[in-house]
Amino acid sequence: MTDLNPMTDGDVDPAMARPVRSDDCSLDRLTAALEVELDGVAPAEVDGARVASLLRKYAAGEDSWRRYALFGDGTYSRNLIWRSRDFELLLLCWKSGQASAIHDHGNQNCWMAVLDGALEEEHFSARDGELKRGRVMTYEAGGVAFIQDEIALHQIRASGGQEGISLHLYSRPIDHCLSFCPESGDSTPIRAGYTSVRGTACAQTDPEAIRRAWVD
Ligand SMILES: [Fe+2]
Repeated sequence: MTDLNPMTDGDVDPAMARPVRSDDCSLDRLTAALEVELDGVAPAEVDGARVASLLRKYAAGEDSWRRYALFGDGTYSRNLIWRSRDFELLLLCWKSGQASAIHDHGNQNCWMAVLDGALEEEHFSARDGELKRGRVMTYEAGGVAFIQDEIALHQIRASGGQEGISLHLYSRPIDHCLSFCPESGDSTPIRAGYTSVRGTACAQTDPEAIRRAWVD
């Protein structure tokens, strides 16, 4: 299995453990509202329109995410904001020219709300061992996209030669997924890592240790 961020085992820094939630942070209010919608709810029973509405409202009126916006040099960054048994909220930061691999979503739901800049999403389908290109959409700040494996594979990239920042909600959390080679269509399992947790850079911390620190 390919590791996105090779890391060593070890004790997790206490700063990366799940924090106490506070009512004066709009991000904490968002995660509390998402818990109402998602925790203990079967995936097929989730009201996707209500979830998208919560994200759209947050994207339109809040900037409490800025303290978690850490960019990566080599690749786009994945900054953990909140995690529960049933969902995970991440802030992804994209420098100009950075892009994800073509990937699936491990049979989970994924919402993406653009907070700053613009991001381009391209759909792909895997048929007969080949990848077929699908539609391309550009999402500006305030836009919300949704995807799951029954819809398509996709690739996300910064758009318009500028940086982009997006809020990603995965329900349930996605710890592993598949990356697809655009030329051969071959897939490779990848393990999702973190760039930071609540604003603290992860360095070489094992993502599994962080996940354990966030257990309810
Ligand atoms: Fe994705």
